[in-house]
Amino acid sequence: MKKIPVTIPYFDDREKEAVGEVLASGWVAQGPKVAQFEKMIALHEGTKEGVATTSCTTALHLAMKVMGMAEGMDVFVPAFTFIATANAVVETGATPVFVDIKRETFNVDVDDVQRIIDSCYEEKGSRLINKKTGNVLWGIVPVHEFGLCCEINSINEIAERYGLKVVEDAACALGAKIGETHIGGFGNPACISFHPRKSITTGEGGMVLTDDGEMAKQMRELRTHGSTVSAEQRHSEKGFLLPEFPQAGYNYRMTDIQAAVGLVQGDKLDYIIEQKQKKAAVYDRLIREQIPEFITPETPEGYFHTYQSYVCMLDYEKLGLPDIAQGGAYRNRLLEKLEDAGIATRQGTHAVHLLGYYKTKYGYQQEDYRNAYACDHLSVTLPLYVQLTEDEQKYVVDAIQETIRTMK
Ligand SMILES: Cc1ncc(COP(=O)(O)O)c(C=O)c1O
Repeated sequence: MKKIPVTIPYFDDREKEAVGEVLASGWVAQGPKVAQFEKMIALHEGTKEGVATTSCTTALHLAMKVMGMAEGMDVFVPAFTFIATANAVVETGATPVFVDIKRETFNVDVDDVQRIIDSCYEEKGSRLINKKTGNVLWGIVPVHEFGLCCEINSINEIAERYGLKVVEDAACALGAKIGETHIGGFGNPACISFHPRKSITTGEGGMVLTDDGEMAKQMRELRTHGSTVSAEQRHSEKGFLLPEFPQAGYNYRMTDIQAAVGLVQGDKLDYIIEQKQKKAAVYDRLIREQIPEFITPETPEGYFHTYQSYVCMLDYEKLGLPDIAQGGAYRNRLLEKLEDAGIATRQGTHAVHLLGYYKTKYGYQQEDYRNAYACDHLSVTLPLYVQLTEDEQKYVVDAIQETIRTMK
């Protein structure tokens, strides 16, 4: 039986050689390779600074902390995103307040942001105060989901109007653009991930991109236990005493072993994105020809989608199913049959307001965010990676078509 995974990193001998060189050098913790990798990614995205971390989750946490997010504050988070976006907010002590998304792009619905501001907050001085809890609205953490930029310019307008802050969750969106502006270039810090599901990987890893030198400096200190001196600096200079720690920080440091992999991967980034875009176009065509029960993802005019994942929606109405719940049950049976046939798929991501911690703590109901709920139940991620051949894509689409035919 053919086995098609949902993704595979695009590695060759160069990553192995690069890791070997770092091991041979004897310096394996955060050091020169990390600094080089930061420069490479910042240069690619056109920002002044890149601050590498252990993951996107810790990158988000660093940016949020440095920008003053804390207890007693509300933060808007899309209801359809990986749980890490909301968890990073919780880690600062602030309260995530979910906003709905658009089914066509899986990205935050700017109208819903405005609706929630209008219905749940009142202006006091220059601040927006939650009418129920008294929390101050700190800002927004929009997500560029699956490699497509959200409507960040409209988000920025709202943020400016109400004096809100913005941290962009660009975990999936390295290389994504609107026009010629890359993530990191929209005036806010943008946090990326190098998890193996992303376009390029360092195993685990993340980075904050920003043009703000002072912010980058503070994040570099916080990621090194709150020290003003990096370990590399300490070891390259004379001295035996530990440095001063003016604040309590974290160990969020990427290793040089990871960065060495990242440097090789970074060289392949444009090729990987180009290949994924071509394969996404093949899926678009095949699905439109063969699977009317699937809705293909939309890319707004002028947006450059990097397709971290290719995610479609099941059209439950076309299948004659009465509601989203039954559509979801059908989607799960379909994906199970594909799995049995050796084809790995995934739900796109999840509706965070329905996950245990958030549902229990804040008492959310599924209908609170209808589009997030629908995407949670109806989204389907298809296999997508550089090594995937067109024949394999046909095999996947034929298998879906045939499975739907036999399930009717
Ligand atoms: C939207 C989003 N945010 C944050 C993360 C967390 O990234 P990491 O695994 O690097 O912490 C992910 C990972 O999948 C993600 O998809």
